[in-house]
Amino acid sequence: MYMNNYQASQSMAETASSDELRSSEAHDVSVHQFVAPLTWRMVADRRYLFPRSPKNEILARCGQQEPISFEQALANLDAIVERKIGEGVYGEVYLCTKPSGVQSVLKLIPIEGGLMINGEKQKTYDEILSEVIISAELSSLRQHNVQFSTDGFVELRSVSCLVGKYPERLVKLWEEYDEKHGSENDCPSEFPDEQLYIAFETAFGGSDLDGFRFRNAQQAFAIYAQIVLMLAVAEKRYDFEHRDLHTGNVLIEPTKELERTYYLLGEEIIIQTHGLKATIIDYTLSRIVHGGLCLFNDLSTDEELFTAEGDYQFDIYRNMKSALQNQWNLHAPKTNVYWLHYLLDKLTSLRNFRDRTSKAHKAAMKTMKELSQVLLRFNSVHEIVCHYFVRRLDESNKEN
Ligand SMILES: Nc1ncnc2c1ncn2[C@@H]1O[C@H](COP(=O)(O)OP(=O)(O)O)[C@@H](O)[C@H]1O
Ligand SMILES: [Mg+2]
Repeated sequence: MYMNNYQASQSMAETASSDELRSSEAHDVSVHQFVAPLTWRMVADRRYLFPRSPKNEILARCGQQEPISFEQALANLDAIVERKIGEGVYGEVYLCTKPSGVQSVLKLIPIEGGLMINGEKQKTYDEILSEVIISAELSSLRQHNVQFSTDGFVELRSVSCLVGKYPERLVKLWEEYDEKHGSENDCPSEFPDEQLYIAFETAFGGSDLDGFRFRNAQQAFAIYAQIVLMLAVAEKRYDFEHRDLHTGNVLIEPTKELERTYYLLGEEIIIQTHGLKATIIDYTLSRIVHGGLCLFNDLSTDEELFTAEGDYQFDIYRNMKSALQNQWNLHAPKTNVYWLHYLLDKLTSLRNFRDRTSKAHKAAMKTMKELSQVLLRFNSVHEIVCHYFVRRLDESNKEN
């Protein structure tokens, strides 16, 4: 089980002696630099440094003393692993069902091993720590709060640290996926018995935007508006930048709820769902300020990411690099705007709407195309929301 981060930070601060705090500096490599204002820095100096090594910090957040076996982890999950549903360079993703019928998703990431996997070095405890913390923080935005709240970031149910041979059942599911969809990854049966993994258990968020078939552009715009609002909330709450918001990292599922509500700086914003709910996942490249510390992935020496061609997605990595002047600790909310521009480009290029003849479809398509023309003038998602959502909200209040 994962611990609420505030509780974790508080209890760490209370138990850490000043000696522990001093010695933490040596292994505190994932926390690259303070970037917060002075008042926060004082708070950080006094209370919020991670007093543990990255390994112990992760174990504490997993509620574990040591890595546990797959058997134990699957028993804790109390679920049947049904099938593999996705993959990335670092992770294999499986769908599970609990006895109650509730679905969960298990993302398994090998760490700390010497074996190259999918052409990449495995991440270390240190390198996975920011994803663990960011996942927990963004998930916690669903707790009701009148200042900042959104349930659009995938719900994190637990994080565990595992050790052992990849279970045969999962290898079988991996092979079934490979036969059906063709995997780009190496088969996990190659992992040795002492391999370590981080397992993220999240809620199932639906299918990804890649290949999703909308009824019409009104539905596509409803998804877009949800993404804009949830990004604005996280941007203001955590100086958050997602930094990798391609169509594989936006999930969509049907919903019976007619509206979704967001709280942004105390402002309540309600929008219509048009029958679909959006969820954002995958914080591998993301950046937040949490407890006065900046958590980010330093891409300054990555060469491959910035040389790819062939899709607008790859331009966005270069745009981000220049907005940040290749200093990935800095906060440039413009990176979120770049990803929103990319998503709008994808949504307005879709040709597979089920109904393209209605007035509603044509009107929403026109709105999205017009928005695309002006979007890059904004420097943050917050600015976009102030311009398009909050102002309208104020106006409609006046009319009442
Ligand atoms: N909670 C979830 N619900 C549904 N599908 C998911 C979920 N998490 C991941 N996936 C699927 O698995 C894929 C890879 O997961 P992701 O977290 O993006 O890993 P990576 O960091 O390796 O890209 C996603 O593109 C998506 O298709
Ligand atoms: Mg991904």
